[in-house]
Amino acid sequence: MSTAAGEAARRRTFAVISHPDAGKSTLTEALALHAHVIGRAGAVHGKAGRGATVSDWMDMEKARGISITSAALQFAYREAVVNLVDTPGHADFSEDTYRVLTAVDAAVMLVDAAKGLETQTMKLFAVCKHRGIPIITVVNKWDRPGLDALGLMDEISERTGLTPTPLTWPVGIAGDFRGVLDRRDGSYRHFTRTAGGATIAPERVMTADAALAQEGDAWTTAVEEAELLGETGADHDQELFLAGATTPVLFASAVSNFGVGLLLDTLVDLAPPPADRPDADGKPRALDDPFSAFVFKVQAGMDTGHRDRLAYMRVCTGVFERGMVVTNAANNRPFATKYAQQVFGRDRETIETAYPGDVVGLVNAQALGVGDTLYTDVPVVYPPITTFAPEHFAVARVADTSKYKAFRKGMDTLAGEGVVQVLVSERRGDGAPVLAVVGPMQFEVAQHRMEHEFGAKVSLENLPYSLARATDAESAPEIAKARGAEVMSRPDGELLALFTDKWSLRALQQNKPHLTLTPLVAAE
Ligand code: G4P
Repeated sequence: MSTAAGEAARRRTFAVISHPDAGKSTLTEALALHAHVIGRAGAVHGKAGRGATVSDWMDMEKARGISITSAALQFAYREAVVNLVDTPGHADFSEDTYRVLTAVDAAVMLVDAAKGLETQTMKLFAVCKHRGIPIITVVNKWDRPGLDALGLMDEISERTGLTPTPLTWPVGIAGDFRGVLDRRDGSYRHFTRTAGGATIAPERVMTADAALAQEGDAWTTAVEEAELLGETGADHDQELFLAGATTPVLFASAVSNFGVGLLLDTLVDLAPPPADRPDADGKPRALDDPFSAFVFKVQAGMDTGHRDRLAYMRVCTGVFERGMVVTNAANNRPFATKYAQQVFGRDRETIETAYPGDVVGLVNAQALGVGDTLYTDVPVVYPPITTFAPEHFAVARVADTSKYKAFRKGMDTLAGEGVVQVLVSERRGDGAPVLAVVGPMQFEVAQHRMEHEFGAKVSLENLPYSLARATDAESAPEIAKARGAEVMSRPDGELLALFTDKWSLRALQQNKPHLTLTPLVAAE
């Protein structure tokens, strides 16, 4: 096997999808701890990265700070190389969060045992489902009072359509976490706490008899429930998992590092390595082809003094070597990759070589945009990255009309980078474009950059819409007349119908079923 295919086979590239506070940062730390990237938990994400507010973000931006600049954490585990691609969350939830999912081969759905499936998790799940990404579910915080385990399985199956196939089953109800029954061999993994969860929790593996003697009824209940699961066909089946029909489930306490080693083993054993990737024509590009990659995220304005711009690419085929001159398929221009980095949290490290599945941050990437394909030798274009359904809309106006040119340039740049979608409505005209975003913090980021980077201060007027559907020129006039609706166009010509709420959308759909109103990916 060549280097590219051989190295690809060892790679597991995944993202964690979750709702804020489910424990993603804690889990990330715990994973890094298990893989010996760090000595003690707490080193990856500082406290400041949590629940960041806009002003924090601006400060973070200046300090080249935390979660926003995170991209991918790479570490070796067993025979594998694991890439954990960060999904921006909290206040910085944006289209980037969705776009990251185009760069991974698997996802870990992290669920808070007390809360079940929450909105942000469901939105991210919808994107994974659309892409057919296999999902491993981790029920976190089992050390705290929470929902009933069987009830949680029902919720997963009803709301995601995936059949949960627990690999482990908790011994003790939520809040009384004794350990887990390993359904694969019937053994018991006893849960032990370490001081503050700061070191790897030692897992004592015991036989069923020893477990019964130690845990009594809690063990008997776990065995009975596990048998019940077996009878309902909730056993792991690798093919069904890879096909996106089932989801293996693990029970964990990330803060105590419990269940984290098993998650890593599960990722290495079950999650798929990078595969041949179809190009824009649907033709699969072999892992062994010359180097190719696509840009899934661009970050600019992190340091206005330097006009720094980082583009993150996922390697799809071949071997990447720093210093390579690659071609950008978007404009056939060469791009020199002199500065290639691995970025996670505050840390940036120069990358010399990367393989399919790896994420590389390219510095000075002024010429690169989201969705661009990069290659050497054999031309290739990967499919464009879908734009996702925005949920917040605001009219942008330049404060000082003499700055109109700078305003236009800034708007075009931000739209090109994918920071915001810029829509035009016939009603409002070109001079008052409508900014559309997935997370409202993008408005503030846009305003900040317009003022400081382009010298054109903008005022924003929020619009009452919260829902978008794709439509066409035929349906547009009728939709525009409906109450609580407006039609706008995207720069690519696509028409979007905006609605204040799902009721006005439903009313229109019921009264005029002939109208084209197609859901956009995610955020449904
Ligand atoms: P996020 O990145 O998904 O937003 O979540 P984060 O890891 O920041 O965790 C949110 C809160 O949940 C934190 O508490 C964290 O300690 C706690 N947590 C995470 N995993 C577990 C777990 O397995 N069990 C329990 N009991 N708690 C967990 P916090 O109060 O916000 O912060 P801290 O004071 O604990 O650091």
